[in-house]
Amino acid sequence: MPDLKIKIKDVVLKNPLIIASGTPTYGLSMVKKCIRSEAAAFVTKTLCYTEWLRKQPRPRWHIEHPEAIDDGGYFSLYSTERLNPTPPEEYVKKMKGYAQEAHDLCGATAVQTCAAVIVFGHKIIKRWLRQISGWMEAKGYHSLADFSGRSVSKIIAPSQIPGDVPYVSRIDPDACQKCLRCLEACPYEAISVVEKKLVVDPEKCDGCRLCVALCQQGAAEFNQK
Ligand SMILES: Cc1cc2nc3c(=O)[nH]c(=O)nc-3n(C[C@H](O)[C@H](O)[C@H](O)COP(=O)(O)O)c2cc1C
Ligand code: SF4
Ligand code: SF4
Repeated sequence: MPDLKIKIKDVVLKNPLIIASGTPTYGLSMVKKCIRSEAAAFVTKTLCYTEWLRKQPRPRWHIEHPEAIDDGGYFSLYSTERLNPTPPEEYVKKMKGYAQEAHDLCGATAVQTCAAVIVFGHKIIKRWLRQISGWMEAKGYHSLADFSGRSVSKIIAPSQIPGDVPYVSRIDPDACQKCLRCLEACPYEAISVVEKKLVVDPEKCDGCRLCVALCQQGAAEFNQK
């Protein structure tokens, strides 16, 4: 079993996952779920003294592409949630009984997460920990320190990313299912329907790659000009 412990300053965390401040950390029952979730720590939903900021708008949630939640694709969670509905003094009183339990888990962390915990529930933490351990075992890593920082040398400044390489996209008519997702999304209006087929105008195409990223059929190809 790989060792997922990390150390930040003098604080040792049992793994690198922390539940970020938000809905999954706001009330007592949610905090208990955080503790049971095996996350190494959590940041409590932001407390505040301003009364209107503690009142939540209703409705306040929208999910774009909910079908992608089960498919493992991309979805967006929109929310107008305000701050912690419980007044600070009351919150502290309620939490006192759980302080010791929470203390064992708290500290600094490497990765905070909020939206996924809202959508999948606190059980996502255990799944992630299993996946991290499985990946480390497959790679032969025994601890996070074995690979921590390995990518640092590969990080380059935005100014170093070449911006003048011309790319162009092309749509394979045999693979295209004509869902029109790319046509609607293309920021440069380079995609149109010509004789019932989706066609990219190479003059208009900016080579941004959005169509390739969106196409679930692998029908949008991307090449240097
Ligand atoms: C519904 C919702 C409520 C949030 N409430 C707070 C908050 O009260 N205080 C805060 O500092 N961040 C809040 N956040 C921001 C999260 O802590 C986190 O930084 C953000 O969601 C990005 O992480 P994610 O992509 O894993 O969701 C909230 C996020 C969401 C989605
Ligand atoms: S997203 Fe893919 S399948 Fe859909 S229209 Fe564009 S190329 Fe065709
Ligand atoms: S690469 Fe960008 S600009 Fe070119 S067709 Fe695709 S989405 Fe449009």
